[in-house]
Amino acid sequence: MFNQLKPLPADAILGIMQLFRADESSGKVDLSVGVYQDDDGNTPILESVKRAEKIVYEQEKTKSYVAPAGNPAFNRLVEELLFGADSPLIRDRRVATLQSPGGSGALSVAAHLIQRARPGARVFCSDPSWPNHVPLLSLAGLKLEPYPYYDFAAHKIDFERMAATIEKMHAGDYLLLHGCCHNPCGADLSQAQWRVVAELCSRLGVIPFIDFAYQGLANGLQEDAYGVRLMTDTVPEFIVVSSYSKNFGLYRERVGACSIVYESVNHREAVVTNLANVARSLYSMPPDHGAAIVATILGDAALTAVWHGEVDAIRNRLNGQRQLLVDKLRARGTSTDFSFIANECGMFSFLGFSREQVIRLREEFHVYMVESSRINVAGVNSRNVDYVVDAIAAVD
Ligand code: LMR
Repeated sequence: MFNQLKPLPADAILGIMQLFRADESSGKVDLSVGVYQDDDGNTPILESVKRAEKIVYEQEKTKSYVAPAGNPAFNRLVEELLFGADSPLIRDRRVATLQSPGGSGALSVAAHLIQRARPGARVFCSDPSWPNHVPLLSLAGLKLEPYPYYDFAAHKIDFERMAATIEKMHAGDYLLLHGCCHNPCGADLSQAQWRVVAELCSRLGVIPFIDFAYQGLANGLQEDAYGVRLMTDTVPEFIVVSSYSKNFGLYRERVGACSIVYESVNHREAVVTNLANVARSLYSMPPDHGAAIVATILGDAALTAVWHGEVDAIRNRLNGQRQLLVDKLRARGTSTDFSFIANECGMFSFLGFSREQVIRLREEFHVYMVESSRINVAGVNSRNVDYVVDAIAAVD
């Protein structure tokens, strides 16, 4: 039977990661997968995480099962981080959160929950988006449609065309939005644009579905939640899927959450039981360790303060690398004006290069990026920046 299966091409992101690992060149540069690197090219374990792990190790008493919904303390603390500690959603019990295996697990749970509530629902996804959004959500049976988002040639959001597409959506359609640090383009909606989107969703009955994987990496933990919190005041129902891979550096521990906001507390029992049942059907229960670390940090004021400092440092370094890259490219006299990179945020920006230029960078210069020309600015460091700038200038 399995002879019916055809081999597949490599994953758009993980395939490049594999090519990078296989390259034996000592000067190779990894600007591909969205993993934070420090100036030495390492992905360090945060100090707050190390301290929390020690506490978890000393205090845990069992390795028995958690529950399909995961760790209740984690779910409560994550709601405060996402919606604000004094959010009316928490006070009025209008949000239910389920711990998931990473942000992708949360997306999957949300997709299956949507499919139960509205089989074959349409989800509008930004063009471009994270390459895994469409396959992951389609697997649950949802119908994916694109909306224009980023103008590749002009290096900016095409908000007019985005809003015009939303205008044509129907009540009960889902609008997939990136909470901050848009992956792959790094261009985020302004607060005024968020307000327009929220107003359109409210007027048309469109349900916002926010993928929030980078809270804290654009402008700050509170600032980055602007769009999520705006929806609280504007629409009756929405979804937030969050990931703790990037802002806690817990990539391989797989920590995420799926939060469902419903119209009234009367819907709570149905949402909570269906969420747990979807998780039970998909993977039964999430892994414990990463969520226990996050709950330990967020449940302890001193550890939270250490973590805040670390998130600030990550964000400041990303912004600093953006400016450094732009300054060096300008000094190098490239024909393309790359100043847009400094106006974008988070880990990613497009260089705006063709696939051929990206392949030249990889094959001639050992500089690796996703074939869309998405770079991870965290991979630029003080040792490789001049080399990267020379390579970009050579293919520009
Ligand atoms: C990325 O976009 O590079 C990350 O989110 C990692 C992944 O799983 O694709």
